[in-house]
Amino acid sequence: MSSSPFSREQIEQALEQVAYPGFRRSILSFGLVKEVIVEGAKVTVQLQLSTTESSIPKRLREEIETSLQAIPGIEEITVLIDIQAPLASSVSGNQIPGVNKVIAIASGKGGVGKSTIAVNLAIALARSGASVGVCDCDLYGPSVAFLCGSRERPHARDDGQIIPVKAHGISLMSMGLLLQEEAPAVLRGPMVSRYTQQFLKQVAWGTLDYLLLDLPPGTGDIQLTIVQTVPLFGAILVTTPQEVALLDVRKAASMFQKTNVPLLGIIENMSYFLSPSDGVRHAIFGSDGGRREADHLAIPFLGEVPLEIEIRTSSDQGVPFFLQHEGSEASRVLKNIAQWISLKS
Ligand SMILES: Nc1ncnc2c1ncn2[C@@H]1O[C@H](COP(=O)(O)OP(=O)(O)O)[C@@H](O)[C@H]1O
Ligand SMILES: [Mg+2]
Repeated sequence: MSSSPFSREQIEQALEQVAYPGFRRSILSFGLVKEVIVEGAKVTVQLQLSTTESSIPKRLREEIETSLQAIPGIEEITVLIDIQAPLASSVSGNQIPGVNKVIAIASGKGGVGKSTIAVNLAIALARSGASVGVCDCDLYGPSVAFLCGSRERPHARDDGQIIPVKAHGISLMSMGLLLQEEAPAVLRGPMVSRYTQQFLKQVAWGTLDYLLLDLPPGTGDIQLTIVQTVPLFGAILVTTPQEVALLDVRKAASMFQKTNVPLLGIIENMSYFLSPSDGVRHAIFGSDGGRREADHLAIPFLGEVPLEIEIRTSSDQGVPFFLQHEGSEASRVLKNIAQWISLKS
């Protein structure tokens, strides 16, 4: 390879300056730069976009050129833009009618805030104009309806299809709800599979841009049935920075990898507590665990959600914190993640 008068780091720094139109985040952090080829004084940048807005490729091309031109020694800049159709899912057929993308929210351990994140991410997506549903797939400890303050039971139509409940602009359905008379603890193996498959066919979601599945923690029968039955757009892993949570998140990651479900990224929850009196950042469960795990799995790290007292109080009141505390850091992080998801569409 011929030597270059500039370094790869300089190119990366220049690309880091280019924000995606309408966002503060760079095209690099959005993972839109597929390849950078350096040949002598020539640089080729390959982007992969999935936007339908025609002005965006043009703007990005101009901004990349301007940013790279500032590097001394660059003689030729080529920006190649590949516009892709939305990703195909790993399971073909068996689509949930009317539902565009199904995203599993998963964790290794319970109590890491998976349901809280699923509900509030759904609200953040809905706020950006998408139609969103959340399905609570935790047969043994459903919490989505509680987190949304919904006491209403979904009703069945004449044809037996069940209509989800609406709360705060999103559609909710809970797998545990239909099981109230039976003891869920006796549902094992093949019965769980059969129930899950039947359930997924029985709900009339209507038209949804996103359906988030709040999976139970771990890698049991329900999770396996779901990843093998539902065509998933991908899975998002939620973890705390703590080592025990990370050990379990690895197992969950491995389940998705083995079943060919794309891992969209990791969200770290309870990352730190910002002391309100002096602004000091306390890493209660350790720090950077989620980021390290994302690096290890070579998947995007989507953000750090801090411990906030308001998250707990909102949960207990049955109002998603995103609605009550839209200006909080946790809401800001979730808003960013929602934007990131909509860009992946
Ligand atoms: N970032 C956070 N700050 C404060 N409390 C949180 C945060 N995330 C979750 N919680 C609280 O922790 C508890 C467990 O969260 P939950 O979403 O039910 O976890 P999981 O679904 O993973 O079992 C809930 O009481 C919730 O309100
Ligand atoms: Mg939960």
